[in-house]
Amino acid sequence: MNYRHAYHAGNIGDVLKHVVLTRLIAYFQRKDKAFRILDTHAGTGRYDLTSEETRKTGEWQLGVGKVLASDIPPPVAELLEPWLAVVRRMNPGGELKCYPGSPCVARSLMRKSDRLTLTELHPADFKTLSELFAGDHQVKAIHLDGWLAMGSFLPPKEKRGLVLIDPAYEATDEFEKMTNAVVKGWKKWSGGSYALWYPMKDAWSIRRMHAAFKEAGLRDVLTLELNVGRSGPDTRMLGSGMTLINPPFTLADEMRVVLPWLCNVLHQGPGASWDVQQLIGE
Ligand SMILES: C[S@@+](CC[C@H](N)C(=O)[O-])C[C@H]1O[C@@H](n2cnc3c(N)ncnc32)[C@H](O)[C@@H]1O
Repeated sequence: MNYRHAYHAGNIGDVLKHVVLTRLIAYFQRKDKAFRILDTHAGTGRYDLTSEETRKTGEWQLGVGKVLASDIPPPVAELLEPWLAVVRRMNPGGELKCYPGSPCVARSLMRKSDRLTLTELHPADFKTLSELFAGDHQVKAIHLDGWLAMGSFLPPKEKRGLVLIDPAYEATDEFEKMTNAVVKGWKKWSGGSYALWYPMKDAWSIRRMHAAFKEAGLRDVLTLELNVGRSGPDTRMLGSGMTLINPPFTLADEMRVVLPWLCNVLHQGPGASWDVQQLIGE
């Protein structure tokens, strides 16, 4: 396991993933009933943007850095507010020094009855994560293979909530593992919401995963893409996408407001685009 999210924290992929995560949780908050979030590939929880790792790549400067430096029009600002609020709270001096990972983003939007289950396999990252949430009775961090988490923890006793799946894509079979784990998880809990993040590098694997979801009988599947364009001939990752299973009915319209703006602000070169598609109907 060589991947460390510290090198990528706050990048264009995190912006899409964490904005979507906050929109999903904002919807769950509309009802009093408790929800649970399972974050299968949790990372360390938060990231020091002054660290050697983050300074080495500076990826956040092309992601969250650009968003914070922009004038955000009111309809977009309203939808970004839950994400921006947690970023601001982590940086009380105003200068961006720390970026919240998905566990801190999720935790910031939980009420007293809501729960968060985190799995992380990297020993050092798990240690950092478990220390961050030590003593927090609403959060459970577990040193476990995230691909086993859906088999072990679904359905949650709250019967309401979300599974975030955000692997490192180090291994060549990561899409296959994700497809199998999601189909297995969905068979155990077809009423849950699932949010899957992926880099837009391997269109064939993404198409194959979507075909497998159709074949397995999944319903109500939405896809989102944010492609920032090609900054140079060697650029590989154009952007990222998410597949949402059972998303809130509000999400597609919200993303049709947010994604064009993000695309404009984050674009790096020709070919930048965004997309919202209902892949499988309800
Ligand atoms: C993209 S990062 C997660 C970032 C985090 N979700 C966020 O948004 O802040 C992927 C994480 O998965 C971890 N990881 C890799 N393989 C794993 C596995 N099989 N099970 C659980 N975690 C794994 C890596 O150590 C890394 O911390």
